[in-house]
Amino acid sequence: MKPRVIMHNSVSIDGSVTGFDIDIAAHYAVAGSFRPDAHLIGWITAKTGIETYMGEAAKEEAEDHKKPAKAFEKGLPYFVISDSLGKLHGLLHVFRKFEHCRDVIVMISRTTSDNYIDYLHSRNYDYIVAGEKRVDYAQALEELNRRFEVETVLTDTGPTLNGALIEHGLVDEISLVIQPYLAMKGNPRLFEELDLRSNAKLRLQKSETLEGSLVHLHYSIEV
Ligand SMILES: NC(=O)c1ccc[n+]([C@@H]2O[C@H](COP(=O)([O-])OP(=O)(O)OC[C@H]3O[C@@H](n4cnc5c(N)ncnc54)[C@H](OP(=O)(O)O)[C@@H]3O)[C@@H](O)[C@H]2O)c1
Repeated sequence: MKPRVIMHNSVSIDGSVTGFDIDIAAHYAVAGSFRPDAHLIGWITAKTGIETYMGEAAKEEAEDHKKPAKAFEKGLPYFVISDSLGKLHGLLHVFRKFEHCRDVIVMISRTTSDNYIDYLHSRNYDYIVAGEKRVDYAQALEELNRRFEVETVLTDTGPTLNGALIEHGLVDEISLVIQPYLAMKGNPRLFEELDLRSNAKLRLQKSETLEGSLVHLHYSIEV
């Protein structure tokens, strides 16, 4: 069974995902309100997150090679990272260490390098192989549900991965925290590259004004 997929983003009122000060506390408070079993993240977002919020990745320690005790407890969400190109080689421990991460699961494809797969094995990271070159998200999400009992996935990613998921009809709901900014030219807009064959009809599930001139909009996709 495919899990319920909620696309969640903070955007300026003109739809930009970067270039302004995102109210991160509000972003994650709303994200947590959906009680997701997993956050789905693209490798670019993951890497940008390290650069933006940490500057440099913490050093990997021997302890990081083992699955943490929290990986065996229900309650925290998994961090599921799409990385068919092995771009996070040597960096996954950063996410495994997060207090709010149960453990990392990596989505890869059949052309992912053996070197990266060896890295995943040696650190006891679970992974899902789906698709030839890029990850086949329909297959990967089914497997995420079957193997890890993930029923609700919240995407915490940028336009590329979100776009691929919407174009393949895999997104059930859209959650937007509208932040009170107009972003400068040059910042990527959430739906700028979206290539749909027909319009998607949405139904408003909730609209709520939050502190700091923020608005939360929650839609379901009807078709
Ligand atoms: N405002 C917000 O709410 C918010 C949230 C998250 C991120 N962001 C920002 O969004 C930016 C990153 O967004 P992004 O769109 O560049 O990256 P991204 O969302 O991290 O997307 C990259 C992922 O898309 C996958 N993908 C699927 N189809 C693809 C295709 N045809 N070509 C290339 N990749 C494909 C890649 O998979 P594989 O490589 O595994 O195959 C890769 O893992 C960052 O600046 C970040 O700060 C903003």
